[in-house]
Amino acid sequence: MQMPQPNDNPGDPEGVVARSSMGAAELREGSDTVEGEDRPQSTPAPGVTRAPEVGGGSEAAEPTHPTKVDVRGLSLWYGDTQALFDVSLRIPEKDVTALIGPSGCGKSTFLRCINRMNDLISAVTIRGQLLLDEADVYGSEVDVVQLRSRVGMVFQQPNPFPKSIYENVAYAPRIHGLAKKGAEMDELVETSLRKAGLWKEVSDRLSMPGTALSGGQQQRLCIARAIAVNPDVILMDEPASALDPVATATIEELIDELRSNYTIIIVTHNMQQAARVARYTAFFHLGEVIEFDDTDTIFTNPSQKRTEDYITGRFG
Ligand SMILES: Nc1ncnc2c1ncn2[C@@H]1O[C@H](COP(=O)(O)OP(=O)(O)O)[C@@H](O)[C@H]1O
Ligand SMILES: [Mg+2]
Repeated sequence: MQMPQPNDNPGDPEGVVARSSMGAAELREGSDTVEGEDRPQSTPAPGVTRAPEVGGGSEAAEPTHPTKVDVRGLSLWYGDTQALFDVSLRIPEKDVTALIGPSGCGKSTFLRCINRMNDLISAVTIRGQLLLDEADVYGSEVDVVQLRSRVGMVFQQPNPFPKSIYENVAYAPRIHGLAKKGAEMDELVETSLRKAGLWKEVSDRLSMPGTALSGGQQQRLCIARAIAVNPDVILMDEPASALDPVATATIEELIDELRSNYTIIIVTHNMQQAARVARYTAFFHLGEVIEFDDTDTIFTNPSQKRTEDYITGRFG
């Protein structure tokens, strides 16, 4: 069992200081480039014990999924109130990681750090490091619009634009210049809707408003919209908690299909859902990550008493 917070970077307590209210982050590079470079090879991400299942022919000894999002000593304040405390996590690529924990423990706050959505909230102070593919998300050179197309987000309440189904999907690719108007865009829209498992239900009514779909369909439309700009990471903040059981099951099946192509990080208050969809699970409590491991381990053999108390329903 590995501890969740192998803070490999204790020598740099200041790390990065990013003040979203300043618009751009102030950055000081960490001093551990060498260590940071060789760690993915030398130490698997917490809980990574299996070889990748995809890409047949991979041998058992092959390294497991590399780290996609590497969080080191991340703390966050809303004004004077600290909401995240020294969070360190290494989230593996191309699989599903669940964030669980009681309401108000910082799951959404943490998720929003990954695509800098907290920048939109004034008086947020962030300290620590958050690397995406080993590059600092809070680096001064980072184009936040670009970042958010690499790191898509799906919210609890489906929030399609008040536009047609087609436009919901085509809008961002057009802005990013990913496809030309006409056949090329038609194809991108179709592919995205297929990947989101929605194409068959909407192919004959693409000009209908997205908001006219059912809640579950709207949520899949939002996933199609995120996929359309070809992200690496999809953040999902309780994506099924506003949906009925059937729509929830559909979303869970979709997550299972997407896992081999995207790094999915899903907040859920539903522990059964975490157990069903996620290979890795991080347990948050009062703004700290208490434990991060294989989902199986978290639910059957957690190392921390607080995790055990939570998953057995003693609090939360
Ligand atoms: N925009 C905000 N401004 C001030 N405090 C916030 C804001 N968003 C969240 N918080 C506070 O941060 C803490 C963590 O909240 P949140 O990340 O939403 O938790 P969770 O998603 O686990 O329920 C809570 O105490 C919450 O009240
Ligand atoms: Mg939340």
